[in-house]
Amino acid sequence: MDNESLMLTIAVLGGTGKEGKGLAYRWAKAGYRVLIGSRFSERAVTVASEIMQLLEGSSSVVGTTNLEAAQQSDIVVLTVPYAAHRPTLESVKDALKGKLVIDATVPLVPPKVTKVQMPPAGSAAQEAKEILGDDAQIAAAFQNISHKLLLGEEEVECDVLVTGTSKDARHETLRLVEATGLTGWDAGPIENSVVVEGLASVLININKQYGSTHAGIKITGVNRS
Ligand SMILES: NC(=O)c1ccc[n+]([C@@H]2O[C@H](COP(=O)([O-])OP(=O)(O)OC[C@H]3O[C@@H](n4cnc5c(N)ncnc54)[C@H](OP(=O)(O)O)[C@@H]3O)[C@@H](O)[C@H]2O)c1
Repeated sequence: MDNESLMLTIAVLGGTGKEGKGLAYRWAKAGYRVLIGSRFSERAVTVASEIMQLLEGSSSVVGTTNLEAAQQSDIVVLTVPYAAHRPTLESVKDALKGKLVIDATVPLVPPKVTKVQMPPAGSAAQEAKEILGDDAQIAAAFQNISHKLLLGEEEVECDVLVTGTSKDARHETLRLVEATGLTGWDAGPIENSVVVEGLASVLININKQYGSTHAGIKITGVNRS
């Protein structure tokens, strides 16, 4: 990874939760400066120090509010439950102007989380675009990576499909996927996020039927070397 990338600060909104903490851990391990965002700064401070302990090194992970994290970062990652998706985005909207926003939200509607139930906008990522405006740089990624894999040290076999509002948004996000140690794929425009987000319910269903916790997907038939 080049030094310029490592100077970037990544905010993980809802980074106190399962998925956000795992991603924050991976990026901090790769050398990025990471801000954990929360509705409650004390909670974020606690999680940031837990990640620092896991890393046992000179990594920089700091906990603060979602708004301050969004204001003080270069790239903002959203990892909140779907019910909190719109309120969280609206609460930090001004701070997101001109920044890449990476949305990991899956529009699950409990209790039927094994059934695909997409929102009127098409997908959570498209809803983010509606909220943030047509100029926003949004990518959607990580929806099919179980948090159980992110805090472990084993090699993760599942791939990450990246959709986004522009080639640049997808390209930048693919660099961050690579930094987590996973394999990412440019999966096309943000409209394609409907498939990727919907796949999460399929994987949850497979977990349930076959007694697993972290079913994933892998792209085959492509030579990337
Ligand atoms: N868990 C997974 O394995 C996984 C995998 C792929 C994608 N995802 C997606 O990633 C997102 C986060 O999943 P998660 O399992 O990490 O969720 P989570 O642990 O339940 O929640 C993440 C964080 O969101 C904040 N939050 C919760 N309810 C909220 C509310 N009503 N309003 C505002 N903030 C709220 C909380 O942070 P504070 O209380 O600190 O504010 C919480 O720590 C979801 O959209 C999920 O579908 C999850």
